[in-house]
Amino acid sequence: MRKLGILLSGRGSNFAAIARRIASGRLDAEIAVVISNKPGAPGLDTAREFGLKAVSLPSKGLERETYDRQVIDVLRQQGVELVILAGYMRLLSAAFVREFPLRILNIHPSLLPSFPGLDAQHQAFAYGAKVSGCTVHFVDEKLDHGPIVLQRAVPVENDDTADTLSARILAAEHELYSEAIALVLAGRYRIDGRRVMLLS
Ligand code: GRF
Repeated sequence: MRKLGILLSGRGSNFAAIARRIASGRLDAEIAVVISNKPGAPGLDTAREFGLKAVSLPSKGLERETYDRQVIDVLRQQGVELVILAGYMRLLSAAFVREFPLRILNIHPSLLPSFPGLDAQHQAFAYGAKVSGCTVHFVDEKLDHGPIVLQRAVPVENDDTADTLSARILAAEHELYSEAIALVLAGRYRIDGRRVMLLS
């Protein structure tokens, strides 16, 4: 299982970090396609700069399942085996999740289950958390909810702003996502309910 399909809606820095890992030979995988539901997403330009197949599939005005069916069709056409959500700002339909059971990953900028949803870094900062971080998890139908593959903590420093904390978390995300992808591609895990046990 090696072919990745990236779904994004914006900047795409996590996608770019994964693409760099692959290009440098540190991650044994192939990005078969990058799909954005936002036509102007900078991540699409990045994909083209990497020489990757970049597909703009606008979601605006479409019913969730109708749209997801279009995305699934492109992923299938490209032979995608593992779907990587990288700043993809849409909930997946049950049909999508069923189509790729335990084959969809997401990254979230907090230590779940703390601070799910939008602006997780700002939520953690405003709450006064002393530690935050990022989480890579399998995707189910609920927001930021599926079984956790890897997490990484980062400290919240006295002189942090929400922006400096976000930058520290993002740097950790860029490392963690590729590590989690490598682990899942290698099948070095076992799942028991919500628990993902890593095997050596
Ligand atoms: C990241 O913080 C990620 O954790 C969240 O959305 C953001 C996407 O950033 N899901 P980028 O588009 O990868 O730069």
